[in-house]
Amino acid sequence: MARKTIGIVLNGVTGRMGYRQHLVRSLLAIREQGGLPLVNGDRLWPELVLVGRSETKLREIADRHGLTDWTTDLTAALARPDVEIYFDAQVTAQREKALRLAIEAGKAIYTEKPTAEDLAGAVDLARLADAAGIKHGVVQDKLFLPGLRKLDRLVKGGFFGQILSIRGEFGYWVFEGDWQAAQRPSWNYRAADGGGITVDMFPHWHYVLEQIFGRVTSVNAHLSTHIDRRWDEAGEAYDATADDAAYGIFEIDRPGQGKVVAQINSSWAVRVYRDELVEFQVDGTEGSAVAGLRNCRIQHRSTTPKPVWNPDLPATEDFRSQWQVVPDNEEFDNGFKAQWELFLRHVVEDAPYTWDLWAGARGVQLAELGIQSAREGRRVEIPELES
Ligand SMILES: NC(=O)c1ccc[n+]([C@@H]2O[C@H](COP(=O)([O-])OP(=O)(O)OC[C@H]3O[C@@H](n4cnc5c(N)ncnc54)[C@H](O)[C@@H]3O)[C@@H](O)[C@H]2O)c1
Repeated sequence: MARKTIGIVLNGVTGRMGYRQHLVRSLLAIREQGGLPLVNGDRLWPELVLVGRSETKLREIADRHGLTDWTTDLTAALARPDVEIYFDAQVTAQREKALRLAIEAGKAIYTEKPTAEDLAGAVDLARLADAAGIKHGVVQDKLFLPGLRKLDRLVKGGFFGQILSIRGEFGYWVFEGDWQAAQRPSWNYRAADGGGITVDMFPHWHYVLEQIFGRVTSVNAHLSTHIDRRWDEAGEAYDATADDAAYGIFEIDRPGQGKVVAQINSSWAVRVYRDELVEFQVDGTEGSAVAGLRNCRIQHRSTTPKPVWNPDLPATEDFRSQWQVVPDNEEFDNGFKAQWELFLRHVVEDAPYTWDLWAGARGVQLAELGIQSAREGRRVEIPELES
Protein backbone atom coordinates (compact mmCIF):
# COMPACT_ATOMS: atom_id res chain seq x y z
CA MET A 1 0.00 0.00 0.00
CA ALA A 2 1.60 3.25 -1.16
CA ARG A 3 0.74 6.78 -0.21
CA LYS A 4 -0.09 9.02 -3.14
CA THR A 5 -0.24 12.74 -2.43
CA ILE A 6 -2.48 15.28 -4.11
CA GLY A 7 -1.89 19.04 -3.77
CA ILE A 8 -5.03 21.10 -3.06
CA VAL A 9 -5.23 24.88 -2.83
CA LEU A 10 -7.97 25.88 -0.36
CA ASN A 11 -9.16 29.47 -0.74
CA GLY A 12 -11.56 31.02 1.77
CA VAL A 13 -10.48 28.69 4.54
CA THR A 14 -10.88 31.37 7.22
CA GLY A 15 -14.65 31.50 6.51
CA ARG A 16 -17.44 29.50 8.13
CA MET A 17 -17.82 26.89 5.42
CA GLY A 18 -14.19 26.79 4.30
CA TYR A 19 -12.91 26.18 7.81
CA ARG A 20 -15.48 24.00 9.53
CA GLN A 21 -16.97 21.85 6.77
CA HIS A 22 -14.25 21.68 4.12
CA LEU A 23 -10.97 21.91 6.05
CA VAL A 24 -11.78 20.33 9.42
CA ARG A 25 -14.72 18.01 8.73
CA SER A 26 -13.60 16.89 5.25
CA LEU A 27 -9.92 17.15 4.33
CA LEU A 28 -8.38 16.94 7.79
CA ALA A 29 -10.82 14.13 8.59
CA ILE A 30 -9.59 12.26 5.49
CA ARG A 31 -6.01 12.70 6.72
CA GLU A 32 -7.00 11.53 10.20
CA GLN A 33 -8.33 8.30 8.74
CA GLY A 34 -4.94 7.76 7.05
CA GLY A 35 -5.94 9.12 3.63
CA LEU A 36 -8.58 8.07 1.13
CA PRO A 37 -8.40 4.39 0.10
CA LEU A 38 -8.12 4.04 -3.69
CA VAL A 39 -9.20 1.12 -5.87
CA ASN A 40 -5.59 -0.03 -6.39
CA GLY A 41 -5.01 -0.21 -2.63
CA ASP A 42 -3.05 3.06 -2.39
CA ARG A 43 -4.12 5.80 -0.02
CA LEU A 44 -4.63 9.31 -1.29
CA TRP A 45 -3.15 11.96 1.01
CA PRO A 46 -4.34 15.57 0.57
CA GLU A 47 -1.46 18.07 0.86
CA LEU A 48 -3.11 21.38 1.67
CA VAL A 49 -2.07 24.89 0.66
CA LEU A 50 -4.17 27.44 2.55
CA VAL A 51 -4.87 30.67 0.68
CA GLY A 52 -6.52 33.82 2.03
CA ARG A 53 -6.19 37.54 2.57
CA SER A 54 -4.93 37.61 6.15
CA GLU A 55 -1.49 36.22 7.02
CA THR A 56 -2.34 36.27 10.70
CA LYS A 57 -5.51 34.23 10.30
CA LEU A 58 -3.90 31.73 7.93
CA ARG A 59 -0.91 31.21 10.21
CA GLU A 60 -3.20 30.74 13.19
CA ILE A 61 -5.29 28.08 11.41
CA ALA A 62 -2.20 26.34 10.02
CA ASP A 63 -0.58 26.22 13.47
CA ARG A 64 -3.75 24.94 15.09
CA HIS A 65 -3.85 21.96 12.72
CA GLY A 66 -0.15 21.24 12.21
CA LEU A 67 -0.16 22.58 8.64
CA THR A 68 2.79 24.49 7.21
CA ASP A 69 1.80 25.57 3.71
CA TRP A 70 -0.12 28.83 3.42
CA THR A 71 0.08 31.99 1.34
CA THR A 72 -1.79 35.19 0.52
CA ASP A 73 -0.65 34.95 -3.12
CA LEU A 74 -3.24 32.98 -5.09
CA THR A 75 -1.44 33.28 -8.43
CA ALA A 76 1.76 31.86 -6.93
CA ALA A 77 -0.17 28.99 -5.33
CA LEU A 78 -1.83 28.17 -8.66
CA ALA A 79 1.52 28.17 -10.45
CA ARG A 80 2.81 25.33 -8.29
CA PRO A 81 3.25 22.08 -10.22
CA ASP A 82 2.52 20.02 -7.09
CA VAL A 83 -1.02 21.46 -6.89
CA GLU A 84 -3.72 19.59 -8.81
CA ILE A 85 -6.98 20.97 -7.38
CA TYR A 86 -8.23 24.48 -6.65
CA PHE A 87 -11.04 24.74 -4.09
CA ASP A 88 -13.04 27.92 -3.47
CA ALA A 89 -15.15 28.78 -0.41
CA GLN A 90 -14.69 32.55 -0.58
CA VAL A 91 -17.57 34.98 -0.46
CA THR A 92 -19.65 34.48 -3.60
CA ALA A 93 -18.67 37.82 -5.17
CA GLN A 94 -14.97 36.82 -5.25
CA ARG A 95 -15.50 33.36 -6.74
CA GLU A 96 -15.75 33.79 -10.48
CA LYS A 97 -12.47 35.61 -11.00
CA ALA A 98 -10.58 33.13 -8.82
CA LEU A 99 -12.09 30.15 -10.67
CA ARG A 100 -11.05 31.73 -13.98
CA LEU A 101 -7.45 31.98 -12.76
CA ALA A 102 -7.49 28.36 -11.65
CA ILE A 103 -8.92 27.16 -14.97
CA GLU A 104 -6.22 29.15 -16.81
CA ALA A 105 -3.63 27.47 -14.60
CA GLY A 106 -5.01 24.07 -15.68
CA LYS A 107 -6.10 22.97 -12.20
CA ALA A 108 -9.13 20.81 -11.48
CA ILE A 109 -11.87 22.92 -9.86
CA TYR A 110 -13.99 22.15 -6.83
CA THR A 111 -16.12 24.99 -5.54
CA GLU A 112 -18.82 26.10 -3.19
CA LYS A 113 -22.09 27.31 -4.69
CA PRO A 114 -23.25 29.60 -6.21
CA THR A 115 -20.51 29.23 -8.83
CA ALA A 116 -20.91 32.84 -10.01
CA GLU A 117 -23.04 35.89 -9.33
CA ASP A 118 -24.97 35.58 -12.59
CA LEU A 119 -25.90 32.95 -15.15
CA ALA A 120 -23.67 34.35 -17.90
CA GLY A 121 -20.65 34.04 -15.61
CA ALA A 122 -21.61 30.56 -14.41
CA VAL A 123 -22.10 29.25 -17.97
CA ASP A 124 -18.87 30.85 -19.11
CA LEU A 125 -16.97 29.09 -16.32
CA ALA A 126 -18.45 25.72 -17.27
CA ARG A 127 -17.55 26.28 -20.94
CA LEU A 128 -14.02 27.42 -20.10
CA ALA A 129 -13.48 24.43 -17.83
CA ASP A 130 -14.70 22.00 -20.51
CA ALA A 131 -12.55 23.68 -23.16
CA ALA A 132 -9.51 23.44 -20.88
CA GLY A 133 -10.22 19.73 -20.39
CA ILE A 134 -10.08 20.00 -16.61
CA LYS A 135 -12.27 18.16 -14.12
CA HIS A 136 -14.78 20.26 -12.21
CA GLY A 137 -17.20 19.85 -9.35
CA VAL A 138 -19.60 21.92 -7.27
CA VAL A 139 -20.55 21.38 -3.63
CA GLN A 140 -24.09 19.95 -3.44
CA ASP A 141 -23.91 18.87 0.16
CA LYS A 142 -27.63 18.54 0.91
CA LEU A 143 -27.78 15.49 -1.39
CA PHE A 144 -25.41 13.70 0.96
CA LEU A 145 -27.37 14.36 4.14
CA PRO A 146 -28.87 11.26 5.78
CA GLY A 147 -32.44 12.61 5.63
CA LEU A 148 -32.28 13.37 1.92
CA ARG A 149 -30.42 10.14 1.15
CA LYS A 150 -33.33 8.27 2.73
CA LEU A 151 -35.83 10.37 0.79
CA ASP A 152 -33.96 9.61 -2.43
CA ARG A 153 -34.03 5.92 -1.52
CA LEU A 154 -37.83 6.09 -1.10
CA VAL A 155 -38.25 7.81 -4.48
CA LYS A 156 -35.98 5.30 -6.25
CA GLY A 157 -37.77 2.40 -4.53
CA GLY A 158 -41.15 3.57 -5.84
CA PHE A 159 -42.61 4.16 -2.37
CA PHE A 160 -44.72 7.19 -3.33
CA GLY A 161 -46.62 5.85 -6.34
CA GLN A 162 -47.32 9.00 -8.32
CA ILE A 163 -45.66 11.96 -6.66
CA LEU A 164 -48.14 14.81 -6.35
CA SER A 165 -46.38 17.60 -4.50
CA ILE A 166 -43.31 18.59 -2.56
CA ARG A 167 -43.28 21.24 0.12
CA GLY A 168 -40.12 22.47 1.76
CA GLU A 169 -39.65 24.66 4.79
CA PHE A 170 -36.18 26.08 5.42
CA GLY A 171 -35.03 28.72 7.83
CA TYR A 172 -34.46 30.07 11.27
CA TRP A 173 -34.18 33.40 12.99
CA VAL A 174 -30.90 35.19 12.17
CA PHE A 175 -30.36 37.77 14.85
CA GLU A 176 -30.17 41.37 13.71
CA GLY A 177 -26.83 41.86 15.46
CA ASP A 178 -27.66 44.64 17.92
CA TRP A 179 -28.55 43.02 21.23
CA GLN A 180 -27.37 39.54 20.17
CA ALA A 181 -24.65 38.90 17.56
CA ALA A 182 -25.89 37.68 14.16
CA GLN A 183 -25.02 34.04 13.47
CA ARG A 184 -24.40 34.60 9.74
CA PRO A 185 -21.89 36.95 8.04
CA SER A 186 -23.21 40.45 7.29
CA TRP A 187 -22.42 40.26 3.54
CA ASN A 188 -25.37 37.83 3.28
CA TYR A 189 -27.72 40.80 3.88
CA ARG A 190 -26.17 43.29 1.42
CA ALA A 191 -27.16 42.92 -2.24
CA ALA A 192 -24.02 44.75 -3.44
CA ASP A 193 -21.81 42.18 -1.69
CA GLY A 194 -23.47 39.14 -3.29
CA GLY A 195 -25.95 38.55 -0.45
CA GLY A 196 -29.59 37.44 -0.52
CA ILE A 197 -31.36 34.23 0.43
CA THR A 198 -32.45 33.53 -3.16
CA VAL A 199 -28.91 33.38 -4.57
CA ASP A 200 -27.87 31.45 -1.48
CA MET A 201 -30.63 28.84 -1.28
CA PHE A 202 -32.18 28.41 -4.75
CA PRO A 203 -28.99 26.71 -6.02
CA HIS A 204 -29.45 24.16 -3.21
CA TRP A 205 -33.13 23.65 -3.99
CA HIS A 206 -32.27 23.25 -7.66
CA TYR A 207 -29.98 20.27 -7.21
CA VAL A 208 -32.22 18.69 -4.57
CA LEU A 209 -35.25 18.88 -6.89
CA GLU A 210 -33.37 17.96 -10.07
CA GLN A 211 -31.38 15.06 -8.65
CA ILE A 212 -34.17 13.48 -6.62
CA PHE A 213 -37.31 14.30 -8.63
CA GLY A 214 -36.66 15.66 -12.14
CA ARG A 215 -35.86 18.72 -14.23
CA VAL A 216 -37.09 22.04 -12.84
CA THR A 217 -39.10 23.71 -15.62
CA SER A 218 -40.54 26.89 -14.09
CA VAL A 219 -40.29 29.18 -11.09
CA ASN A 220 -42.65 31.64 -9.47
CA ALA A 221 -41.11 33.47 -6.53
CA HIS A 222 -42.02 36.15 -4.05
CA LEU A 223 -39.03 37.76 -2.30
CA SER A 224 -39.00 39.91 0.82
CA THR A 225 -36.56 41.85 2.89
CA HIS A 226 -38.36 41.47 6.19
CA ILE A 227 -35.58 42.96 8.35
CA ASP A 228 -34.10 45.98 6.64
CA ARG A 229 -31.66 47.16 9.32
CA ARG A 230 -28.95 44.97 10.83
CA TRP A 231 -25.66 45.30 12.73
CA ASP A 232 -22.39 43.93 11.30
CA GLU A 233 -19.43 42.08 12.83
CA ALA A 234 -18.02 45.38 14.14
CA GLY A 235 -21.35 46.36 15.72
CA GLU A 236 -22.03 49.02 13.06
CA ALA A 237 -25.60 49.42 11.82
CA TYR A 238 -26.17 48.91 8.09
CA ASP A 239 -29.08 48.79 5.65
CA ALA A 240 -30.01 45.20 4.80
CA THR A 241 -30.59 45.53 1.05
CA ALA A 242 -30.79 41.85 0.10
CA ASP A 243 -33.81 39.55 0.33
CA ASP A 244 -33.98 37.57 3.57
CA ALA A 245 -36.97 35.42 2.59
CA ALA A 246 -37.94 33.75 -0.68
CA TYR A 247 -41.27 31.99 -1.19
CA GLY A 248 -40.98 29.86 -4.32
CA ILE A 249 -43.21 27.60 -6.39
CA PHE A 250 -41.38 25.35 -8.83
CA GLU A 251 -42.64 22.96 -11.48
CA ILE A 252 -40.77 19.75 -12.10
CA ASP A 253 -40.90 17.36 -15.03
CA ARG A 254 -40.95 13.95 -13.46
CA PRO A 255 -40.08 11.32 -16.04
CA GLY A 256 -43.13 9.12 -16.68
CA GLN A 257 -45.30 11.09 -14.21
CA GLY A 258 -45.71 14.53 -15.77
CA LYS A 259 -45.56 17.73 -13.75
CA VAL A 260 -44.98 17.81 -10.01
CA VAL A 261 -45.31 21.01 -8.00
CA ALA A 262 -42.78 21.97 -5.34
CA GLN A 263 -43.32 24.84 -2.96
CA ILE A 264 -40.35 25.87 -0.84
CA ASN A 265 -40.18 28.65 1.74
CA SER A 266 -36.70 29.91 2.64
CA SER A 267 -36.34 32.47 5.39
CA TRP A 268 -33.83 33.97 7.81
CA ALA A 269 -36.73 35.72 9.54
CA VAL A 270 -38.73 32.75 10.80
CA ARG A 271 -38.74 31.04 14.18
CA VAL A 272 -38.42 27.28 14.13
CA TYR A 273 -41.41 25.12 15.02
CA ARG A 274 -40.19 22.05 13.20
CA ASP A 275 -37.98 19.10 14.03
CA GLU A 276 -35.12 20.24 11.76
CA LEU A 277 -33.91 23.47 10.10
CA VAL A 278 -35.01 22.18 6.72
CA GLU A 279 -37.83 19.73 6.07
CA PHE A 280 -39.40 18.48 2.87
CA GLN A 281 -42.79 16.82 2.78
CA VAL A 282 -43.50 14.69 -0.28
CA ASP A 283 -47.04 13.48 -0.90
CA GLY A 284 -47.77 10.67 -3.32
CA THR A 285 -50.71 8.46 -4.17
CA GLU A 286 -49.21 5.50 -2.27
CA GLY A 287 -47.64 7.32 0.64
CA SER A 288 -46.01 10.44 2.05
CA ALA A 289 -42.67 11.26 3.63
CA VAL A 290 -41.19 14.08 5.68
CA ALA A 291 -37.41 14.32 5.37
CA GLY A 292 -35.07 16.62 7.27
CA LEU A 293 -31.30 16.84 7.50
CA ARG A 294 -31.00 13.58 9.40
CA ASN A 295 -34.38 11.96 9.79
CA CYS A 296 -37.08 10.75 7.47
CA ARG A 297 -40.58 9.62 8.39
CA ILE A 298 -43.23 7.98 6.25
CA GLN A 299 -46.94 7.29 6.22
CA HIS A 300 -48.23 4.63 3.84
CA ARG A 301 -51.73 4.86 2.36
CA SER A 302 -52.66 1.73 4.31
CA THR A 303 -51.87 3.47 7.61
CA THR A 304 -53.26 6.88 6.73
CA PRO A 305 -55.83 8.03 9.31
CA LYS A 306 -59.09 9.68 8.30
CA PRO A 307 -59.26 13.06 10.05
CA VAL A 308 -62.65 14.77 9.93
CA TRP A 309 -62.79 18.57 9.92
CA ASN A 310 -64.64 19.72 13.02
CA PRO A 311 -63.48 22.99 14.59
CA ASP A 312 -65.97 22.50 17.45
CA LEU A 313 -63.88 19.68 18.92
CA PRO A 314 -60.25 19.64 20.06
CA ALA A 315 -57.96 17.43 17.95
CA THR A 316 -58.28 13.87 19.17
CA GLU A 317 -55.33 12.42 17.32
CA ASP A 318 -51.60 12.88 17.75
CA PHE A 319 -50.82 13.26 14.06
CA ARG A 320 -47.02 13.17 14.43
CA SER A 321 -47.13 9.78 16.14
CA GLN A 322 -48.86 8.28 13.11
CA TRP A 323 -45.64 8.34 11.08
CA GLN A 324 -43.01 5.63 10.89
CA VAL A 325 -39.26 6.26 11.08
CA VAL A 326 -37.20 5.22 8.04
CA PRO A 327 -34.17 3.27 9.32
CA ASP A 328 -30.62 4.31 8.39
CA ASN A 329 -29.66 0.88 6.97
CA GLU A 330 -26.19 2.29 6.23
CA GLU A 331 -23.61 4.56 7.81
CA PHE A 332 -23.73 8.19 6.82
CA ASP A 333 -20.53 10.20 6.90
CA ASN A 334 -20.41 14.01 6.94
CA GLY A 335 -22.05 15.12 3.67
CA PHE A 336 -19.25 17.51 2.70
CA LYS A 337 -16.61 14.83 3.31
CA ALA A 338 -18.59 12.22 1.35
CA GLN A 339 -18.71 14.56 -1.64
CA TRP A 340 -15.02 15.50 -1.33
CA GLU A 341 -14.15 11.80 -1.45
CA LEU A 342 -16.18 11.33 -4.64
CA PHE A 343 -14.53 14.35 -6.23
CA LEU A 344 -11.02 13.19 -5.28
CA ARG A 345 -11.77 9.78 -6.81
CA HIS A 346 -13.07 11.54 -9.91
CA VAL A 347 -9.79 13.46 -10.27
CA VAL A 348 -7.44 10.62 -9.41
CA GLU A 349 -9.24 7.50 -10.67
CA ASP A 350 -11.59 9.03 -13.22
CA ALA A 351 -14.60 7.80 -11.21
CA PRO A 352 -17.94 9.19 -12.48
CA TYR A 353 -19.05 12.51 -11.02
CA THR A 354 -22.20 14.35 -12.04
CA TRP A 355 -22.22 17.47 -9.87
CA ASP A 356 -20.17 19.69 -12.17
CA LEU A 357 -20.02 23.38 -13.14
CA TRP A 358 -22.99 22.82 -15.48
CA ALA A 359 -25.07 21.60 -12.54
CA GLY A 360 -23.79 24.65 -10.66
CA ALA A 361 -24.84 26.92 -13.54
CA ARG A 362 -28.37 25.45 -13.51
CA GLY A 363 -28.57 26.38 -9.82
CA VAL A 364 -27.48 29.95 -10.57
CA GLN A 365 -30.05 30.02 -13.39
CA LEU A 366 -32.85 29.10 -10.98
CA ALA A 367 -31.80 31.90 -8.62
CA GLU A 368 -31.58 34.43 -11.44
CA LEU A 369 -34.96 33.47 -12.93
CA GLY A 370 -36.50 33.35 -9.46
CA ILE A 371 -35.43 36.96 -8.92
CA GLN A 372 -36.78 37.88 -12.38
CA SER A 373 -40.07 36.16 -11.55
CA ALA A 374 -40.42 38.14 -8.33
CA ARG A 375 -39.50 41.42 -10.03
CA GLU A 376 -42.00 40.90 -12.86
CA GLY A 377 -44.66 39.28 -10.69
CA ARG A 378 -45.08 36.23 -12.94
CA ARG A 379 -44.12 32.61 -13.49
CA VAL A 380 -40.91 32.20 -15.52
CA GLU A 381 -40.11 29.16 -17.68
CA ILE A 382 -36.62 27.72 -17.31
CA PRO A 383 -34.92 27.00 -20.63
CA GLU A 384 -32.44 24.13 -20.84
CA LEU A 385 -28.85 25.37 -20.85
CA GLU A 386 -26.82 24.70 -23.99
CA SER A 387 -23.44 23.32 -23.12
N1 LIG B 1 -22.89 24.49 0.92
C1 LIG B 1 -23.47 25.14 1.90
O1 LIG B 1 -24.30 24.61 2.61
C2 LIG B 1 -23.12 26.58 2.16
C3 LIG B 1 -23.54 27.18 3.35
C4 LIG B 1 -23.17 28.50 3.59
C5 LIG B 1 -22.44 29.20 2.65
N2 LIG B 1 -22.07 28.58 1.49
C6 LIG B 1 -21.28 29.32 0.48
O2 LIG B 1 -19.93 29.36 0.91
C7 LIG B 1 -19.36 30.61 0.61
C8 LIG B 1 -18.76 31.23 1.87
O3 LIG B 1 -19.79 31.46 2.81
P1 LIG B 1 -19.48 31.59 4.37
O4 LIG B 1 -20.79 31.59 5.04
O5 LIG B 1 -18.42 30.62 4.76
O6 LIG B 1 -18.89 33.09 4.40
P2 LIG B 1 -17.78 33.71 5.38
O7 LIG B 1 -18.00 35.18 5.32
O8 LIG B 1 -17.76 33.04 6.69
O9 LIG B 1 -16.40 33.36 4.66
C9 LIG B 1 -16.00 34.01 3.48
C10 LIG B 1 -14.56 33.70 3.14
O10 LIG B 1 -14.22 34.47 1.96
C11 LIG B 1 -13.05 35.25 2.24
N3 LIG B 1 -13.06 36.46 1.41
C12 LIG B 1 -12.33 36.62 0.29
N4 LIG B 1 -12.54 37.83 -0.24
C13 LIG B 1 -13.41 38.47 0.58
C14 LIG B 1 -13.98 39.77 0.55
N5 LIG B 1 -13.69 40.65 -0.41
N6 LIG B 1 -14.86 40.08 1.55
C15 LIG B 1 -15.15 39.19 2.53
N7 LIG B 1 -14.61 37.95 2.59
C16 LIG B 1 -13.75 37.60 1.63
C17 LIG B 1 -13.08 35.48 3.74
O11 LIG B 1 -11.80 35.80 4.20
C18 LIG B 1 -13.56 34.10 4.22
O12 LIG B 1 -12.47 33.19 4.22
C19 LIG B 1 -20.46 31.46 -0.05
O13 LIG B 1 -20.29 31.44 -1.45
C20 LIG B 1 -21.73 30.74 0.32
O14 LIG B 1 -22.72 30.85 -0.69
C21 LIG B 1 -22.39 27.30 1.25
